[in-house]
Amino acid sequence: MNDKFSKIGFILAVAGSAVGLGNAWKFPTLVGTNGGSAFILLYLLLTLLVSFVIFLAEIVIGRLSESDPVRAFEKLAPSYKGAWKYAGFFMISALLIYAFYSVVMGWILKYVVSSALYLPKSIDESGAAFNALLGSDFLSAAICFTIASAFCFFIVSKGVKSGIERLNVWMMPALFILLVLMLIYAASFDGFGRSAKFLLVPDFSKLNKDSVLSALGLAFFTLSLGVTTIMTYAASLPARTNILTSSINIVCINVLIGVMMGLIVFTFIFEFGGDPKAQGPGLVFVSLVVLFSKLGAIGNILAFLFFTSLLFAAITSAISMLEPAIYYLVNSRKLSRKCASLLVFAVTYVLGICCILGYYGGTSEYFSLGGKSFFDVLDYLTSNILMPLSGIIVAIFVGFAIKKRAVEILLRPYMGRMGFKLWYFVLLRFVAPAAIVVIALNQLKILNF
Ligand code: TRP
Repeated sequence: MNDKFSKIGFILAVAGSAVGLGNAWKFPTLVGTNGGSAFILLYLLLTLLVSFVIFLAEIVIGRLSESDPVRAFEKLAPSYKGAWKYAGFFMISALLIYAFYSVVMGWILKYVVSSALYLPKSIDESGAAFNALLGSDFLSAAICFTIASAFCFFIVSKGVKSGIERLNVWMMPALFILLVLMLIYAASFDGFGRSAKFLLVPDFSKLNKDSVLSALGLAFFTLSLGVTTIMTYAASLPARTNILTSSINIVCINVLIGVMMGLIVFTFIFEFGGDPKAQGPGLVFVSLVVLFSKLGAIGNILAFLFFTSLLFAAITSAISMLEPAIYYLVNSRKLSRKCASLLVFAVTYVLGICCILGYYGGTSEYFSLGGKSFFDVLDYLTSNILMPLSGIIVAIFVGFAIKKRAVEILLRPYMGRMGFKLWYFVLLRFVAPAAIVVIALNQLKILNF
């Protein structure tokens, strides 16, 4: 059996997993362009109806089995154990996400250092610098990636309590403090008022069917669902934890940090005339650095703080992607934690280098598939196919396969009889799987709603 988290350690570790790059470069832009807090309300509603439902189902699997994902499905399935256990292998998706996530961590690390020293003065210069890192500076990209990835493995190799928990209990508060400092500074600009208006004042007329689909996709992605991470962390849940209030805390921390990140980013976008529709890597690595440069030396400090907070958010997510596979190797395959970590490191390292080579000028054509770079292939495969598929399987497993009695004994004390019935019979069995099918078909462009 794995060692256990403390109560606060569990909340911070899961929140650390949830809070990641999505909060910085997806959440703020989607909120801003879809009617501010009207979108936040929609996002919370869909979180409640879909993501939170699957989230609790993953917690149930982890808590009841106290095992790694493969063993968990095998242990809890009343019949067809041999077949169900394959559902645990969705932990491989977490490693695929890790491969490209760790490459981005390398970029962030590079920017922590370089933006403290120098910030580009124009979008052209900034775009050229970012493209150079990807397209021609293989050595920098590879070195930074190696350092970031090695650090994550060092942490997970130390185990749940003295590695993962110990890191999260200081890194998450540190992330929060960095954001508060930046927020206080941002509040001294005129752009702050416009940023707050953009993000917080509801405008229901901007909500449309695309907002619903984006909110659903986002709600699923930011809670780190569909890759067995949550069930693995829940296997180390301390006894007598109130599952419901802990989960609600986690969702609140996630939204709060997304809003804080958004307020900071959009203050500078409005203050210096950036593009409020920008998102993803272009937003942070190209636009923001130019906006920061307009502040002179303070801009360098701000950029350093901003990229450090992004690095913290990414690291706490990245280690949660590694734990399922490592725990499986330790628990079911009886490897030592060091050996398991090294093995997983080797596999993800090769995949990460392939991602870097997929962008590198000389090799990009060999590391691409159907016009997409290796990096984008992994992203597409995990977000659009593997994660939704695993979400549906988890819902079916907990909703129909495992004994209802065991699930009820676990959750009813926290949810009450009616709450449990609503969650189990309506949301878990029908609403959540149907909603996931709709997002997945839409993302794959099989159906265009
Ligand atoms: N939630 C993370 C973010 O917002 C990203 C993420 C998606 C993730 N799936 C995951 C993290 C699985 C850990 C495990 O950036």
